[in-house]
Amino acid sequence: MIILSKPNWTRCFSALITLCLSAAVLTGASQVATPPTASASQTPLLLGTAWYPEQWPEARWDADLELMENAGIHFVRIGEFAWSTMEPAEGEYKFDWLERAIALAAQHHIQVVLGTPTAAPPAWLTQKYPETLRINEDGRPDEHGNRQQFNWSDLEYRELAHDIAFRMADRFGHNPNVIGWQIDNEYASESYGPKDRQRFQEWLKSRYGTLDALNARWTTAYWSESYTGWNQIPIETSYGNPGLLLNWKLFVSDTWRSYQKNQIDAIRPHADARQLITTNMMGWFDGYDHYTVSQDLGLAAWDDYVGQGHLDPIRNGAAHDLTRGFLNKNFWVMETQPGFVNWARVNNALDKGEVRAMAWHDVGHGADAVSYWQWRSPLNGQEEYHGTLVGADGTPAPLYAEVAQLGREFAKVAPALAGTSVQSEVAILHSYESRWAINWQRHNSEYDPVKELLSYYDPLREYAQSIDIVSSDAPLSQYKLVVAPALNVISEETAQKLIAYVRGGGHLVLGDRSGMKDADNGLWPQRQPGPLADLLGGRVEQFYALDAPVEVLGDFGQASSTTTKQYATLWAEQLSVKASDTEILLRYGKSNGWLDGQPAAITRRVGAGRITYIGASLDAKTMAAAANWMLKTSGVTRAFGPVPAGIEVYPRSGNGKLVYILVNLGKKTETVDLPAEMTDILHDGRVKRLTLQPYDVTVLQAANR
Ligand code: GAL
Repeated sequence: MIILSKPNWTRCFSALITLCLSAAVLTGASQVATPPTASASQTPLLLGTAWYPEQWPEARWDADLELMENAGIHFVRIGEFAWSTMEPAEGEYKFDWLERAIALAAQHHIQVVLGTPTAAPPAWLTQKYPETLRINEDGRPDEHGNRQQFNWSDLEYRELAHDIAFRMADRFGHNPNVIGWQIDNEYASESYGPKDRQRFQEWLKSRYGTLDALNARWTTAYWSESYTGWNQIPIETSYGNPGLLLNWKLFVSDTWRSYQKNQIDAIRPHADARQLITTNMMGWFDGYDHYTVSQDLGLAAWDDYVGQGHLDPIRNGAAHDLTRGFLNKNFWVMETQPGFVNWARVNNALDKGEVRAMAWHDVGHGADAVSYWQWRSPLNGQEEYHGTLVGADGTPAPLYAEVAQLGREFAKVAPALAGTSVQSEVAILHSYESRWAINWQRHNSEYDPVKELLSYYDPLREYAQSIDIVSSDAPLSQYKLVVAPALNVISEETAQKLIAYVRGGGHLVLGDRSGMKDADNGLWPQRQPGPLADLLGGRVEQFYALDAPVEVLGDFGQASSTTTKQYATLWAEQLSVKASDTEILLRYGKSNGWLDGQPAAITRRVGAGRITYIGASLDAKTMAAAANWMLKTSGVTRAFGPVPAGIEVYPRSGNGKLVYILVNLGKKTETVDLPAEMTDILHDGRVKRLTLQPYDVTVLQAANR
């Protein structure tokens, strides 16, 4: 046991936080810096599981690791909740057990991702440092007994978190069997105490400089909200001044970033460059801006749970694409369900074969690792009912064999996938600011910005077979088509980037509610789409929340033979045309009088580029026609070719290779004609036509590029 004296980190952390926060203010929350590279993230295809050796007698470890090795598992993630075992009393560090676990794993050819244990502080810590507990919105402090009870902005907690992360890195940063680090676990809960509020006020001061500027940007004359002192500014999370609401979320995001950076800084100088650093995010969760928090990571990762029901390839697939867009490269699925969870309304199991199909769906979307949570049922603890690969008795659960099949398949396919990633001609823009802004003021309670995004994603992906979902600030010039569903908040800077994209020859499609708000969540004084209205040569005259669908007429310039009626569903904007060369693509039918016969979608060519505005949420059929038009007009090609309904196609390319993963997520056996003869990697052989049973998978390598 080594006890080093602790430096006065509190002072260092205040400086660090000020630095991080003011840097974020200066640079804007969503700028993406070049992440450090890590060799482990280039390992082609990894199968993993979450293992908790601290919960089991050491004599049992070897049997578990042997079962893992037999299943083809490459890595275990360990340690992320083991603080009380690593430091049972303050300053008393116990890492020998961890060292032995890592060494034994190595004997079984299993590598290790170490989790920093800061999502589960030990009881001695919260007892001695009660100020590290987060304060709930009702003003009550959280307490020990579950997890995530810490306060993400508390300086004392950061000191303690830095210390344990440093001790771990000092011990394992050069361990050849440790391939990476996971910081904390699923950042989620912030704190609302007086000190948090004070830090928020300081953050606002560095963002706005003067109260006059803040009052003006937030229009605080409204309801006498004007502030004459920074310490008057409250925390609001759901109903409040829209500027205040947005800034709180930006503060939350910057604070998670600095919370994480604190631990990265404790690890990075003491860890080999090959050891990657990541954290496990949560798909569509919008508690903070993931673009902001990802900036300091070498790899993005997420926890992919279905919960109740079955794999939804659209919503789940788009969440993969979203995560890939955090750093614009391949990512990891750090946790996924071994059959079923314990927290849904009904914790049904995925069907036999579905777990394997889901893993290939993950890989197809750019996952380079799939890791099951968790390995073995714990004998006690909050999650006794959760699915596992091994039962409480230590013998394999029925699903073990399916995962072992994956282990064999990953080994076979890994060389072909090495150096490949997902390349797309189409990008969908995603923005946390816009999602928050709409969710605070939905205007139609049914209007969900994620569902709106997916209504575009579904038909676009069905045709293009590959889509990127990227930040509205990401580079766009490589895309033929960029679609921005409900991009409600558009800063001046983003507007200029989008204008440059169109002028550079790209096709930008804005969905309804786009370009309404500025960077402070205030209304643009121009009508929608705000700073893009001039380029569009048209604008929104009025928006209408719909209590019943409204018919829309038009076929997006395609002589469609369909007689099926088409509808705007939840939202309809009355558009007008201001420029002589702006064309009308769609009009409303008979409705509330205001909308009758008015334009619902308009488009304008700009040199070699084009800008389109679709002012209504559309039913699936109309959206399919709209998507078809967008893709054709933009010259987007299919990544593979036509396939029967239910067959998902996932292209990955790079390093001179082109690989297609095909998964049958339908209920019927399907036959697929390939666009050319290809090598079937899983089944060894050349194929031009193949048959896939439900949940079956094939991995095809096309001729080298
Ligand atoms: C995740 C969490 C894991 C485990 C899992 C159960 O959100 O990171 O620790 O609780 O859920 O599904």
